[in-house]
Amino acid sequence: VPLQRLNTFGIAARAHRLARIRSEDDVLALVRHPDWRPQETFILGGGSNIVLTGDLRQLVLKVEIPGRRLLREDARGWLVEAGAGENWHAFVDWTLAQGWPGLENLALIPGTVGAAPVQNIGAYGVELQDRFHSLDAIDLETGERLTLQHAHCAFGYRDSVFKHARAGARGMGLKGRALITRVRFWLPRHWRAELGYQDLARKVAETGITQPTPRQVFDWVCAIRRAKLPDPAVIGNAGSFFKNPTVTPEQCADIIGRDPKVVHYPMPDGSVKLAAGWLIEACGWKGKTVGHAGVYDKQALVLVNRGDAEHPCTGGEVMTLARLIQTSVYERFGIRLEPEPVVV
Ligand code: EPU
Repeated sequence: VPLQRLNTFGIAARAHRLARIRSEDDVLALVRHPDWRPQETFILGGGSNIVLTGDLRQLVLKVEIPGRRLLREDARGWLVEAGAGENWHAFVDWTLAQGWPGLENLALIPGTVGAAPVQNIGAYGVELQDRFHSLDAIDLETGERLTLQHAHCAFGYRDSVFKHARAGARGMGLKGRALITRVRFWLPRHWRAELGYQDLARKVAETGITQPTPRQVFDWVCAIRRAKLPDPAVIGNAGSFFKNPTVTPEQCADIIGRDPKVVHYPMPDGSVKLAAGWLIEACGWKGKTVGHAGVYDKQALVLVNRGDAEHPCTGGEVMTLARLIQTSVYERFGIRLEPEPVVV
């Protein structure tokens, strides 16, 4: 099965076998099959956060579980549920159309609802974990139905229990093991626009609108993203390619000593987050191309596919470029950038 149209980078890898999952029962039917090998599966959502470096020998489970509904409404807010296969942005748009605010800062993030908790998607001052209620999953090893509450998911910056192997640092990791089927969000009635992020603060200043509606914030976020980030339907990419690194105040002071303009944000825990895009741009990578892979010219944190449908970049070319960038950032700043998408 060709995967080129099933990953937003547009890499031309193939899957030996692929099963489309439309319901919980589809998963259970597979798990009960005598040939079932849970260790040899790969769970695929919108394919917007992966780099395929070769063909997939595993059975690919393409999650397409539909559905979105209001589960509860009370004086405090709304509890909303969506199937893992729903498109994330369409879901955000729908919640706002229903009059349930809270997800507007997360507009236009590519991918599916089921993939959103895996990397705890975040943008413009809001993370999925700020609105997350709980999720349903199926244990691919036992066929058990699981419900995970917030605390079970071990959310971190672009991180969760679903990104860690069972024996990994986070103990009981669920990587490749829990297939997320439904996700629930708690959207409180008491709503305030989250406008702290500099790009949104700039919109407030430009328009003079200090109390935007949720829909207004949604529109701003869409406009900001369209101006800075490549549309995967036009230029293949997987969003930010590296995580923004965190350093100690001493390390940051050291870097400021050498490069006074380094973009940095103090964190509540005393550490300092650096803008990886700035570090990469400072090393001269913005707009560069190596093979068929390149660094986006409006946002250096995003690696893009500079090939076309017939000659797309390969996962190997992306990783070669990524390593070159990592090396130059390390040599200049002493910082190791960590890839953000899942490298398969
Ligand atoms: N910057 C540069 N040059 C660049 C890019 C950025 O100097 O080429 C500096 C600028 O000072 C800019 C700052 O870095 O103001 C931050 O850039 P931006 O606002 O574009 O955000 P980011 O830190 O690069 C993160 C997330 C994005 C998210 C935005 C907005 C990560 C890894 N990335 O990017 O998430 O949309 O903030 O909240 O945390 C993703 O995860 O795929 C993603 C796109």
